[in-house]
Amino acid sequence: MKILVIHGPNLNLLGTREPDVYGRATLEDINRRVIALAQELGMEAEAFQSNSEGEIVDAVQGKSYDALIINPAAYTHTSVAIRDAIAAVGRPAIEVHISNIHKREEFRRTSYISGVVTGQISGLGVEGYLLAVRASRQILDR
Ligand code: DQA
Repeated sequence: MKILVIHGPNLNLLGTREPDVYGRATLEDINRRVIALAQELGMEAEAFQSNSEGEIVDAVQGKSYDALIINPAAYTHTSVAIRDAIAAVGRPAIEVHISNIHKREEFRRTSYISGVVTGQISGLGVEGYLLAVRASRQILDR
């Protein structure tokens, strides 16, 4: 069982990017914890970050995985292309946001992604990724 974790634009700056909103954990910290938990649960995890929409579409389509965890970051609110790629591959997918997108600016309340994923976790910080790993295991066991 393999999980692919995709991080969208600007998430490479976690740790220093608006720490009051996104916390102090770096992307490396998150990936380390995700990979360790996946292993603990008997799965493998690969993490991928890109600032480019096309590269994210290519990863959704082309990488090998059983379940997807994706924080599309700003593309959440704009990308029909990422939505269509997730729908096209038809594998279980969980959308994660570090901040609560429903509690911020109006434009962040719309997710182009939420209509094609299994579920969405928003506002629980780094813990959201770890909950998504646990949920992936349960979904793949069904
Ligand atoms: C985010 C929320 C998005 O609105 C924002 O553009 C991000 C990060 C989050 O994890 O809270 O870059 O996806």
